[in-house]
Amino acid sequence: MLPSQDKPQLPLPTPDARAASDALIAKIRAEIDAHGWISFADYMRMALYAPGLGYYAGGAAKFGQSGDFVTAPGLSPLFGACVAGSLAPVLDALDHGDVLEFGAGTGHLAAQVLAELERLDCLPRRYQIVDVSAELAARQRATLSTLVPHLVDRVQWLDRLPEQFVGCVIGNEVLDAIPCDLVYRDSAGALFERGVVWKDGFNWEDRLLAPGPLLALASALELPADYLTEIQPQMQGFIHSVATMLTRGAILFLDYGFPSGEYYHAQRNRGTLMAHYRHHSLTDPFFLPGLSDLTCHVDFSAVYNAADQCGLQLEGYVSQAQYLLDAGLPERLAALPPAQYLSAASATHKLTSPAEMGELFKAIAFSRNLALPALLPGFRNADDSYRL
Ligand SMILES: C[S@@+](CC[C@H](N)C(=O)[O-])C[C@H]1O[C@@H](n2cnc3c(N)ncnc32)[C@H](O)[C@@H]1O
Repeated sequence: MLPSQDKPQLPLPTPDARAASDALIAKIRAEIDAHGWISFADYMRMALYAPGLGYYAGGAAKFGQSGDFVTAPGLSPLFGACVAGSLAPVLDALDHGDVLEFGAGTGHLAAQVLAELERLDCLPRRYQIVDVSAELAARQRATLSTLVPHLVDRVQWLDRLPEQFVGCVIGNEVLDAIPCDLVYRDSAGALFERGVVWKDGFNWEDRLLAPGPLLALASALELPADYLTEIQPQMQGFIHSVATMLTRGAILFLDYGFPSGEYYHAQRNRGTLMAHYRHHSLTDPFFLPGLSDLTCHVDFSAVYNAADQCGLQLEGYVSQAQYLLDAGLPERLAALPPAQYLSAASATHKLTSPAEMGELFKAIAFSRNLALPALLPGFRNADDSYRL
């Protein structure tokens, strides 16, 4: 599974990293040998989260210049300050509930949100983190101890969802990392699940979709002929669990994706599944398992429908650019001292430009049992919910 000859420009992994990838390949192959075929969601789950070896569970750098990708909190602390600005009115209304962050990555968003909430005199009682990666939880603790040492006592790492939760739930680029299933509709109109087999390496094999939840979801999409795409039933299940847990408060997710009309557009006939390796985007999800991130775009209509079915109220759905502009990014940028301005201005451009993250990324927020006097910062100036 070394970079093949058509990818000569990709950096080679170290011998240790390659050995870890080989061990993960052997583990996934054993799973295939045991069953003959595995779903792509099972492949992705192991490739990302197999203990000690999966991309998020192993030692890969992942984030930042030395890693494979950069996320918004790594670009500028202003991002987390804007998120905190959206949470503050909710925490006020709840007389300072808790914050629960899913998939906290390096811990930078947590540090930024806590610092800004402290500045606003609106600290949550507890800042809870749920992350499927133990390796990242250790990294989050180190980041928080460095950036906001006096607030670390408020931070708790949970290994499961609380049964009930009052407060604010946040997650940046978490939904795209939840394993997806692959579905193919052939030119005769039959629906298949695309799974993974071993034939001198990982290979695709389609199986006719049997009656069940995936067939129901795929049929409802009325996909065009000769069409490959992703469906995320696990992500919908995740939204269901989070919504069920929230007794009072709000939920804010930011991620890249589209409403279903754009996601399942006839021209997007090969889906959105991608691997990220050292700042290269690859279409081959079998490339260096455990050393490449795997992701699919998020179907925000599916997010909305799952939340709506659980009785959550939509607070807003907008592009990331609209969200950040209304959540005070320009004002926060203008207030920076000259020494910090240039790099923050460049990050602001990346976060909001339609050619970068501004349009592809979206913000969506829900609430339950909250009577807020006004729309949340970030959602006051625009409303794209009619697209969902
Ligand atoms: C692309 S990273 C984003 C990290 C961070 N939020 C950021 O913006 O930099 C995805 C994160 O989601 C976590 N994750 C994936 N599925 C999860 C789940 N079901 N529950 C909690 N965390 C999850 C991963 O371990 C990882 O920390």
